[in-house]
Amino acid sequence: MRVSVVTGGGGGMGLACAQQLAARGDGLVLNEIDSSRSKHAVETLRARGASVESVDGDVSHADVARALAAAASEMGAFGALVHTAGLSPTMADGRRILEVNLVGTELLLDAFQPLATAGSVAVCIASQAGHFGMTGATPEICALLDEPLARDLADRLEAAGVTLDPGTGYAMSKLGVIRAAVRLAPAWGARGARIVSLSPGIIETKMGTQEYEAQPVMATMVERTPLGRMGAAAEIASVVEFLCSDAASFITGTDLLVDGGSTGAMRALMPS
Ligand SMILES: NC(=O)c1ccc[n+]([C@@H]2O[C@H](COP(=O)([O-])OP(=O)(O)OC[C@H]3O[C@@H](n4cnc5c(N)ncnc54)[C@H](O)[C@@H]3O)[C@@H](O)[C@H]2O)c1
Repeated sequence: MRVSVVTGGGGGMGLACAQQLAARGDGLVLNEIDSSRSKHAVETLRARGASVESVDGDVSHADVARALAAAASEMGAFGALVHTAGLSPTMADGRRILEVNLVGTELLLDAFQPLATAGSVAVCIASQAGHFGMTGATPEICALLDEPLARDLADRLEAAGVTLDPGTGYAMSKLGVIRAAVRLAPAWGARGARIVSLSPGIIETKMGTQEYEAQPVMATMVERTPLGRMGAAAEIASVVEFLCSDAASFITGTDLLVDGGSTGAMRALMPS
């Protein structure tokens, strides 16, 4: 059986992606830090006939990443890793956001790379915030983001001039995820496998709604979005399904913005 692994599987995008991948017949291994969300997701998917196991825990812990990879290889042939688990700026401080969003991504990619074979794919959810983070990210900062497992990553980023408030921590973590897909594409490619990041704009999930309510700039971003609205989790899931399919067989080592056009529109307002 082809197996897809979805982290943050009980979240807005995670569950939507899991539903999409189950509908194409994949067996699923879900990961969640929130046990009630996990239980709900597993029940929802099983009620639709999906074959689902869960390995819950914090993706920023290496043993959780390794346990997920072990569960996937026990269930069948590794098809896809869809990594949606993450924290947004209203959810934690900058260091914790960096740890979950960037260190967690690297640990998962380390754990899954040995399972990758022809046709396997990793899709890591980044953010349009990572694109905004590119402005002002010096070569020194980029080099630090390319070594997420360095023990003193946060200290070194601060020494390089990054103020790790939650917003900057989030933007840096997601820039790191975008860079990871580029950096690791040769290693995955050598196995016949692909790796991409996907950067959503504002998506109407629990996280998206919480950020929208807390940050006034979000209303401006939605107003300026060429499509004039937030996105839906299903609109991310359908792109994820495409990226996980053979229809995307020449797409690797890149980021795909799925943002209704808002990143380009906001960039046009920024000083060059
Ligand atoms: N919603 C948006 O507007 C938006 C925009 C850009 C990027 N993103 C990114 O998309 C991804 C999915 O977000 P969402 O909108 O579905 O949010 P969500 O809050 O609905 O889902 C995220 C899920 O991740 C889980 N999670 C959090 N920390 C975890 C950890 N350490 N280990 C395991 N699971 C953990 C949460 O319990 C939650 O169920 C995130 O990485 C987020 O940063 C979201």
